[in-house]
Amino acid sequence: MFESMRNSIQKSWFLLKKNWKPWPEGEEGLKVRDHRQMVGGMWDEIGEFQFNFLRNQGLEPSNVLLDIGCGSFRAGKWFIEYLEPGNYLGIDKQKELVEQGKKNEISDEIWNNKTPEIIVSDAFEFHKFQKKPDYAIAQSLFTHLSIQDIKICLINLAKFAPAHCKLYATFFESDKKVMNILSSHSSRRFEYTSKQMADLGKNCSWEMQYIGDWNHPRNQKLVIYYKK
Ligand SMILES: C[S@@+](CC[C@H](N)C(=O)[O-])C[C@H]1O[C@@H](n2cnc3c(N)ncnc32)[C@H](O)[C@@H]1O
Repeated sequence: MFESMRNSIQKSWFLLKKNWKPWPEGEEGLKVRDHRQMVGGMWDEIGEFQFNFLRNQGLEPSNVLLDIGCGSFRAGKWFIEYLEPGNYLGIDKQKELVEQGKKNEISDEIWNNKTPEIIVSDAFEFHKFQKKPDYAIAQSLFTHLSIQDIKICLINLAKFAPAHCKLYATFFESDKKVMNILSSHSSRRFEYTSKQMADLGKNCSWEMQYIGDWNHPRNQKLVIYYKK
């Protein structure tokens, strides 16, 4: 009991120090890192990895996919090309990152033919989309969000998504609860236990299935949320 509390405090302190001074976000961020580095690098590998995974999960071109925290389209570029026109929905809080991704990673021809729908918002305003998703992915998003923000995301998505929609979400798994006093930030690291992820789901109208290891290159773990 005492040992476990001590470990938890040590871990919380370690993360607090690590997260104290994150990289800048938005325009300032792009002065020191490019749009690929700002979403974590490993551009081709992590982009294609998400695409292959969702295709193996049954994603068809006729499905609508919501990419929450789409960033500069590391995975989006694969999904946009694959899905039928209008079936890629992307939301991100960093306008500049979205713009850089559009400009540098996707040809005008593909963009104009595929007409992805993009919302810039930090408040998970899913109701602004015209279509409803069959699949949603939050890859490397909850890894940077506080509990409060994960809740807003899950609550808003539960209100917006149809009953059959599944959310694939990654997180950094901790075997003990970590205390956190810092706000969400794209280059801060947040860690949660699988029980916390399940409880968050339960409180926001989702049932969670723990997948855990899915061969993610940065060892992010995976859960799938189903609507209750
Ligand atoms: C590590 S990046 C991952 C981007 C993308 N999912 C990928 O795999 O390349 C996290 C992204 O989440 C976005 N983000 C963070 N908080 C957000 C929020 N509250 N609403 C929308 N996007 C957010 C960041 O701007 C960033 O683009």
